[in-house]
Amino acid sequence: MARLEKSEQLISSSLPFSWEQAQELVNIYGSPLYVYQSDRLRETIERITKAINYPRTQFRFASVTNGNIALLKIFRSAGWGLHANSPGDIYLGLQAGFEPSEIVYSGSNLNRAEMVQVLNWGVAILNFDSLAQLRLCCEVFFDHAEAQRRREESCREKGVRLGLRVNLPEVTGDSRIGVRSEEFGEAIALTGEVGLKLSGLHFYRGTGTNATTAFTEVIDTVIATAQQLPDWEYLDFGGGFGYPYHHSKAAFDWEMFGAELTERITRLGRGIDLIIEPGRAAVASCATLLAEVVSVKWQGEKQIVGVDTTVANLSVPSVHGGYREIVTWKKFPILHSPLPTPHSLFTTDVCGNTTYSRDYLGKNCQLPALEIGDAIAILDVGAYGYAMSSHFLHRPKPAEVLLENGTHRLIRQREDYSVLLTNQVLDISPPF
Ligand SMILES: Cc1ncc(COP(=O)(O)O)c(C=O)c1O
Repeated sequence: MARLEKSEQLISSSLPFSWEQAQELVNIYGSPLYVYQSDRLRETIERITKAINYPRTQFRFASVTNGNIALLKIFRSAGWGLHANSPGDIYLGLQAGFEPSEIVYSGSNLNRAEMVQVLNWGVAILNFDSLAQLRLCCEVFFDHAEAQRRREESCREKGVRLGLRVNLPEVTGDSRIGVRSEEFGEAIALTGEVGLKLSGLHFYRGTGTNATTAFTEVIDTVIATAQQLPDWEYLDFGGGFGYPYHHSKAAFDWEMFGAELTERITRLGRGIDLIIEPGRAAVASCATLLAEVVSVKWQGEKQIVGVDTTVANLSVPSVHGGYREIVTWKKFPILHSPLPTPHSLFTTDVCGNTTYSRDYLGKNCQLPALEIGDAIAILDVGAYGYAMSSHFLHRPKPAEVLLENGTHRLIRQREDYSVLLTNQVLDISPPF
């Protein structure tokens, strides 16, 4: 029988903070737990910012990936604005202190009430992905009494700008989103009828692309397309920049992308404003999801590890097929049978705490033999992690904690079961 010491680590590779700290956080805040690191986030923001030297560049964090107000404030303090995919993104951004002038909206399929709301918020730049949305915007802008007031106040003086998200089938293949260049004439006419300009082109390469050339090779095409807009003033180049979840594989090369984009736009000599709206690439690396092993069984050579979190807390790996690295360590001193060797690795499925057939946090991972009470950390979960969590499977959501300046603080409460009753109408008398 072997006694393992408290916090003895089985794999030391890449937990971004100390094992002791991870354990302390779980002791204080419970498990599962999202842990964010402010220093990592700031380093990433700085690196991306420095990579694009074009002087008229504005960075807008795509908060579809993570809407925690504490993190949004970090982006704001670093001089970035906000990219909104939905009215909810705008709402959160305003709560975090962003000015409407620092917010870019490029979304899809607003209904009329939402269009009114977005215009009333006074968002600075609106990129539309269909002629129907552009038409609705023009109508609302000029029909709605409130919009009429704001038109005078903000459109002309503060310079609200309208753009189109372009659909380039030769570059991005078959996509439902965006306006084809053949439709530009009609779009220009639409805006012209109500005295507005169409001054922006928005391009989105496709999500999570680590191949830098996939972006650089299309710069000329995108610019040539933008030049079909007579009043072209800004280029919004997405989103979509990859993050290397497999740490050994190629990462998006920000410096190369920045240099090529800067060179091409500068060469135009037109004073174009450049907007870059990274989501995943900016925020993925700053978060880790900590969880605890609650059951272990073996099916032949395969280890089946059950943990106290679920795909509803982190849907990406299982539901969307993404990979997230998992590391493990011994949480408590436990008496147990000798391990084959301390660092033997076994093919392991890490399973969530439901019987949902897709409830896997990791499949075929190479992990040591684990025991109840051991701890796991799922790395790089800052993007599309908490933001895509849900109440599917009826498990309350984890807490979120921020590590900052050597301290930790709660930035979102752990939910309890009462959340499952939210908005349910409980006092209806039976119909018979
Ligand atoms: C218009 C737009 N910009 C930016 C993003 C963020 O994308 P990513 O996280 O891939 O950078 C999205 C994601 O949906 C988007 O639709």
